[in-house]
Amino acid sequence: MERATTDPAQDRTARAGLSAALEAAIAILQTGGHALDAVEAAVRVLEDDTQFNAGRGSVFTAEGRIECDAAIMEGNNRMAGAVAGVRSTRNPIVLARAVMEQSPHVFLAGSGADGFARAFGIEAASPDWFETPERRRQLEELLADPEAPFDLGMKYGTVGAVARDTSGHVAAATSTGGLTGKKWGRVGDSPIIGAGTYADDRAGAISCTGAGEYFIRLSVAHEIAARTRLGVEDMQAATNALIDELSILGGKGGVIFAPAIGTAGWAFNTPGMYRGRADSSGLRQVAIYAGE
Ligand code: GLY
Repeated sequence: MERATTDPAQDRTARAGLSAALEAAIAILQTGGHALDAVEAAVRVLEDDTQFNAGRGSVFTAEGRIECDAAIMEGNNRMAGAVAGVRSTRNPIVLARAVMEQSPHVFLAGSGADGFARAFGIEAASPDWFETPERRRQLEELLADPEAPFDLGMKYGTVGAVARDTSGHVAAATSTGGLTGKKWGRVGDSPIIGAGTYADDRAGAISCTGAGEYFIRLSVAHEIAARTRLGVEDMQAATNALIDELSILGGKGGVIFAPAIGTAGWAFNTPGMYRGRADSSGLRQVAIYAGE
């Protein structure tokens, strides 16, 4: 994802998709709505947009299926819900929230998670509804030469949202199709509370994107929250430190955060990361490449 190699049309449509997600969250937050509703709304927009690797437009597994993972967490009570390997639920983030609010559990996986969705009246979608020709082409390219260098933007592309509302509560939501060509029921960091998703009103909300295995090993989202809560450093410095540690281990990716105090931000070690932020002072920013 570098400016020189990104198709201008893709650049435009990606920015439009990011703006639509921001607007969905702004509409809730500026009328006094909850951070939890804002992050769910933003992620739903991104899940329904085929440009992003979540919900419709997710990448394919090696077997040519789509298996979605998602998590949501609220910071005031540290309630959380997560799902993995979902195949027939239109918006995995809606299901993750239902797991949080309507079950005694935190994490459901596979056909059981889709079964929970049906039992609780959450909108279904047929497996082919999630599929797009471009993701199919990416799988075929990968399978044709598994050793070939593969563009990170094709491999990753997890979506996430973080927010702080007028009551000072924070929330985080993350959703993904995972990795192109994933096998054996592989699950990344996104639905693992503390790895790819975390929220705590005493620190802030965090959502991660990138090579999930590294984010799991470092418990990135929880460690950023813990370092911030314990006063080791502010959330930007904690996020920078975790991205540095990720880099040392060889991991690639990025983090968005909404701190309990201060402005939302991010850090990443890739050439670009789709991102945007807004606040009540009028800040509106959408960006793709490093340095924007
Ligand atoms: N970060 C998403 C994944 O690794 O599945």
